[in-house]
Amino acid sequence: MKRVLTGIKPTGSPHVGNLLGAIRPALRLADEGLEAMYFIADYHALTSVQDAARLAHLTREVAATWLAMGLDPERVLFYRQSDIPEIFELAWVLACFTSKGWMNKAHAYKAAVDANRERGEEDVDAGINMGVYEYPILMAADILAFDIDLVPVGKDQVQHLEIARDIAQRVNHVCGAEVLRLPAAKLDDNAAIVPGLDGRKMSKSYDNTIPLFAPAKQLRKIVSRIVTDSAPPEAPKDPDASTVFQIYRAIAPADAAAALAAKLRAGIGWGDAKTALYDQLEAALGPARVKYDVLMAAPEQLDALLAAGAARARPIARRVLDRVRHAIGVAS
Ligand code: ADP
Ligand code: TRP
Repeated sequence: MKRVLTGIKPTGSPHVGNLLGAIRPALRLADEGLEAMYFIADYHALTSVQDAARLAHLTREVAATWLAMGLDPERVLFYRQSDIPEIFELAWVLACFTSKGWMNKAHAYKAAVDANRERGEEDVDAGINMGVYEYPILMAADILAFDIDLVPVGKDQVQHLEIARDIAQRVNHVCGAEVLRLPAAKLDDNAAIVPGLDGRKMSKSYDNTIPLFAPAKQLRKIVSRIVTDSAPPEAPKDPDASTVFQIYRAIAPADAAAALAAKLRAGIGWGDAKTALYDQLEAALGPARVKYDVLMAAPEQLDALLAAGAARARPIARRVLDRVRHAIGVAS
């Protein structure tokens, strides 16, 4: 049976884009009967979240989100990355098989360097920690530690998957054996990029998100902030050019989306369109919010559930790591 794995970093509250682009497709794969491992990449978040209480809280938010959206921890191995020490031992071994040049070219590091250059910084590495630099190696370890076949990710992560494959191939070549399994990225063909409040890609980094489980009143306020043009209510509107409609379409059933598109073309006000969007969000997320609030109210139970998942996942990583240690000559 194919084994599938993906991780989400707890760097901000999960939002509608994460649900559509990552969580839903991953849950669908688990439903299709693949052996699924989904985890919270808290040590990846540490590259940017260095406030202890915030990291702990965001980790629980991400965990509660997966569970509230329907992840069944009996069927899916669900854990925190930091609970699996084998991953970090493997990361060191992988680092020794990774060309520094590959890391210089990794997108996130390159973007940080470019930003420094644009700001006119004398040191192009100013403010960049080694965690950012080594990020792709740790991600490769997340995957290679579990003999993974498929990794559902967004387009921005494809380079990381290529790096993971390159590293695995290098290890296999040097050791002259199939020590590590080569993973493949799985891009969801239907996953549209969900726009945020300002029309750019919805992203924690742009502060333009619709958080999945904001309280109803706050959710209404957030929806009212979506940027629209100043066309009068009766003016015909192009649904495809409208952020309100694109978010609506991402979350609503197809017939409801077709109905709103028709109304926009005939001419309804943005206020009414936003109310329709709010109602859809509430219908789609309201029941899950109740579950989410219950989960967040019992943090010890969440932590225990993640620890139990890690206990089930660790033996898999242990076997892979033993294979690697044997292949490189440090087996005891
Ligand atoms: P963010 O940009 O908010 O920091 P992440 O980079 O942590 O989000 O992404 C986590 C997952 O959610 C990735 O698989 C990514 O492809 C998906 N994702 C994030 N934003 C969107 C979006 N606006 N539309 C669709 N998918 C998204
Ligand atoms: N880098 C991924 C992101 O930013 C998160 C991640 C960490 C991940 N480790 C992973 C995704 C392993 C898939 C597999 O979204």
